[in-house]
Amino acid sequence: MKRVSADEHTTSEPLVWNEGLIPTAGPGQILVRVAAFGINHVDLEQKMKLYPRPAGAGPIYGLELSGTVVAIGPGVKKFSVGDRVMSLVTDGAYAEYAICQEEVSLLLPSYLSFEEGAAIPESLYTLTLNLWQKTALKSEETVLIHGMAGAIGTLAIPLIKAWGSKVYGTVSSPVKQKFCLDLGADNVFLRNSANWTNQSIDIVLDCLGGEIFEKSLAILNKKGRIALIDCIYNEKASIDLGSIITKQISIFGSVLRPLAIKEKAELTKFIELNLLPLMIQNQIKAPIHRIWSMHQLEEAHQTLKKANGFGKNVVRIEEYN
Ligand SMILES: NC(=O)c1ccc[n+]([C@@H]2O[C@H](COP(=O)([O-])OP(=O)(O)OC[C@H]3O[C@@H](n4cnc5c(N)ncnc54)[C@H](OP(=O)(O)O)[C@@H]3O)[C@@H](O)[C@H]2O)c1
Repeated sequence: MKRVSADEHTTSEPLVWNEGLIPTAGPGQILVRVAAFGINHVDLEQKMKLYPRPAGAGPIYGLELSGTVVAIGPGVKKFSVGDRVMSLVTDGAYAEYAICQEEVSLLLPSYLSFEEGAAIPESLYTLTLNLWQKTALKSEETVLIHGMAGAIGTLAIPLIKAWGSKVYGTVSSPVKQKFCLDLGADNVFLRNSANWTNQSIDIVLDCLGGEIFEKSLAILNKKGRIALIDCIYNEKASIDLGSIITKQISIFGSVLRPLAIKEKAELTKFIELNLLPLMIQNQIKAPIHRIWSMHQLEEAHQTLKKANGFGKNVVRIEEYN
């Protein structure tokens, strides 16, 4: 099978498809013939060798995929050969075949194409971890998402609306603002305007850090929560500790990829019970910025790096049928 391995190029060389062996499904695992996979910032960082892979992660790129189950390992109960699935993986999605954990895979609803399915797992699990497990979003609350036009934010809009909560966001340009409003966001602010700093918010999902984190603390209501998933702007912030005490604020930091299978399985259960039914009922999709061919990987990576996209970049495996 063809796959793209981080061990087979230097930081300055382009990503290449090389031949490798089709893996075998072990206990609790399924072998998926990959139809499409999503591109994430971690893939870019892996290419630049900016940080070591988490323990146990292999060299093949890719954190999320969709496809068809072609073999099941011992003890697998949820899936059969032929099922359409979407999966969150620790590695291995940039390949024609991938091993996925049964407990971190979801049946692909029939209203979604494979490309649409590949755009979902990383964003959906990140949202579940941060908004439902950590900050325990209630339907009467208001969430604000920074960098809302990205993959996570654009899936969050319809999902949070379907949950019954209000969803606000910040973006860097009027065109991104319109895009998010058209997706149903209750309000979207230009980040460099002061407007968003007057709001009353229960939960902030922040990937920017620095000064944005500081301002986000100030807009939180009593018992507000902030979930930090990246520090794109700055890892350092000057925090008003007094307001954390008086407003009883909770701060959460998390990273999805190194979580144990058991922890990801908890997220799967929550998704299957609560979020997937909402998605099916409301025909929720994760917006796709562009579907790329296998031979446009470099272009796809550069597009994500520029951060001027809307939604997810997805690669389709052409040989899939
Ligand atoms: N901790 C975790 O477990 C976890 C899991 C998944 C993703 N993440 C992180 O969460 C963030 C959002 O993920 P995503 O998939 O939604 O990404 P995305 O599609 O690229 O969207 C991120 C948004 O952040 C803003 N941004 C500003 N400068 C940026 C830069 N230099 N690089 C990237 N984005 C920049 C952009 O919004 P504006 O134009 O409005 O500024 C962009 O639309 C990323 O930083 C990702 O690494 C963390």
